[in-house]
Amino acid sequence: MALLSIENLEIAFGSTPAVRELSLEIAPGESLGLVGESGSGKSVTALAVLGLLDPIARLHGVIRFDGQNLLDLAPDPMRRLRGREIAMIFQEPMTALNPVMTVGEQIAESVRVHHHELSRRQVRETVLEAMNSVALPDPVARYGDYPHQFSGGQRQRILIAMAIVNQPRLLIADEPTTALDVTVQAQILELLADLRERFGLAMLFISHDLAVVSQVTDRVAVMRHGLLLEVASRESLFHNPLHPYTRSLLGAVPTMQTEINKPLATLSRSAEDSSIPLRECEPRHWARIGS
Ligand SMILES: Nc1ncnc2c1ncn2[C@@H]1O[C@H](COP(=O)(O)OP(=O)(O)O)[C@@H](O)[C@H]1O
Ligand SMILES: [Mg+2]
Repeated sequence: MALLSIENLEIAFGSTPAVRELSLEIAPGESLGLVGESGSGKSVTALAVLGLLDPIARLHGVIRFDGQNLLDLAPDPMRRLRGREIAMIFQEPMTALNPVMTVGEQIAESVRVHHHELSRRQVRETVLEAMNSVALPDPVARYGDYPHQFSGGQRQRILIAMAIVNQPRLLIADEPTTALDVTVQAQILELLADLRERFGLAMLFISHDLAVVSQVTDRVAVMRHGLLLEVASRESLFHNPLHPYTRSLLGAVPTMQTEINKPLATLSRSAEDSSIPLRECEPRHWARIGS
């Protein structure tokens, strides 16, 4: 059974749809990448799963986590789930951290919220273990340091430590490396891949960058203008991209044949996309293209 199952999700702000008829699944321990240019509906999808969507948004469909429809869940059980079963990391490590609280205390906060039963010593042990897991150097010495005393990459590690400290089953990472320089980005991606393996974490990894996504995900979903255009295993998507938009993201030069059959000019016609159903063109490879 899927750990997370999104069925026919629709999100709209006023009369403007942000996500249309979106269906996606993530199996336990699986990592799904969600790719698309800015404004394609990736972040609102993540926020909908977390129950953190702007209240003005209109929401329809089903978001099932471990069999339970999160959209039916009251605020209190949703809060208990968030941070414990489903954790998140966002793009900006500095804005997500409290500048006047030591990093150890901040990670400890997220433990205490979900584990009132733990003693001070047990909380501290748990925090140090998490700091260790994300390879922050010298956790004991740095427990009492403030966010500004860490580099950008280390701050992202601190946020990852906060996210994984309660051993969630699903980690949602929304552009977690976009604000980092390339070398640090590679280290963070490596860390996420490593944590996945060690803890059997399922992951929804969001990025505008297909190359980044491909480093940490088993399957990749491509979205544009709120529509899912293609979803397939990483291998299948890279070796046999079917939608012209996916091809453009891959920077592939269209062959003479595809140029004749599916002109890239269709890229700008999103209305046309929405009238084409997603179709399983090859086993477990879905694309919104005509037959
Ligand atoms: N709070 C909001 N109020 C109104 N429109 C919003 C809000 N949040 C997102 N949107 C709109 O929803 C669409 C999808 O946004 P988003 O999910 O942030 O895109 P992405 O993360 O793919 O860049 C955009 O058109 C955006 O303007
Ligand atoms: Mg976004």
